[in-house]
Amino acid sequence: MRATNLTRIIGEVEDLPTLPRTILKITEVVNNPKSSAKDLAKVITDDQVLTARLLKLVNSSFYGFPQKISTVTGAIVLLGFDAIRNLLLTTSIFDLFSNKNRKDRFKREKLWDHSLGCAVGAKVIGNSLRYEKIEELFVSGLLHDIGKIVEILFLPGDFAKVASMVENKNILMITAEEHVLGYTHSEVGKLLIKRWNLPPKIVNVIAYHHQPTLAGKFSKEAAIVHLADILCRAMNMGSGGDNKIPPLNKSAWETLQLKLSSIEPIMEEMEKEFEDISLFLSHS
Ligand SMILES: [Fe+2]
Ligand SMILES: [Fe+2]
Repeated sequence: MRATNLTRIIGEVEDLPTLPRTILKITEVVNNPKSSAKDLAKVITDDQVLTARLLKLVNSSFYGFPQKISTVTGAIVLLGFDAIRNLLLTTSIFDLFSNKNRKDRFKREKLWDHSLGCAVGAKVIGNSLRYEKIEELFVSGLLHDIGKIVEILFLPGDFAKVASMVENKNILMITAEEHVLGYTHSEVGKLLIKRWNLPPKIVNVIAYHHQPTLAGKFSKEAAIVHLADILCRAMNMGSGGDNKIPPLNKSAWETLQLKLSSIEPIMEEMEKEFEDISLFLSHS
C-alpha cells in the first residue's frame, strides 16, 4: 500500500501546478557552471511579470541599496546567481501557498508562516554559526514542509484523516502520517524538490529535517533546519499542522556546537527578521 501510494504521488506530482516554467529554467541556468550573468538575465527578461517583480524587490527597502537598480543584469551582479534564484523561488512558493481559490486557504497561510519562520530561523542560526551559504539555508527552511502542500493538494481525503488524528490524539503530524499514509511529508517533499532540480543539499535537508543525523554530509544543514523548525514552533510562528513541539535531536544539537546562551538572541533576531520579511513579501 505504501509503495502504491507513493508511486501515485510521484506520478501526480508531475502535474503539480507549482513552479512556473521560468523558475525551472532559471534553476537550470544557475546550476550550470558555464552560465553567464547574460544567460540568466535573458531567461528572466523573457518573463515580464517576473522581471517587474524582481526589480521591485531589489529596489525595496529590504535590500536597501543606495542607488536605483533598473536592469536585471544589474540586479544579478549585485545579488549573485544563487540569491536571485532563491528570491524568485521564494516569491513563487509564496504564490503556491496562498492560492486563494482553494477552500483550505487558511491552513495554507498558517503553514506559510511556519515555513517562513523556519526559513528565517535557519538563516539566523546559520549566521550565528558563520555558515557561508545562508541563502540555501533560507530556501531549505522555506521548503522543509513542502510535502504537506502536496498532501493537501493531491491526497485531500488522507490529509483530512491525518489532521483529525493529530487533533484527537494530540500527536505529531509525522506520527499520524505514518499511521494513515505509511510515509511522511519529508519523503513526499524530497520527491518534489528532486523534480524541481534543486541542489542535493536542499533535497537532503528536506528529506531529513526530522532525522537530521541521517542526512550524511549535509547533517549540519539538516540540524540547522531541524532546530529552526523547533524554534519557530516554540515561538508560535504560524503552524505546521500540529501543536506539539518535537524533541530536539541530541546528536543534531551536538553537531551544531551552539551555546545554550545563544538561543535567546537567536529567537529575538528571528522575531525581528520574520516581521521584516513578512512585510516585504506581502508587498511584492
Ligand atoms: Fe516537517
Ligand atoms: Fe515544520
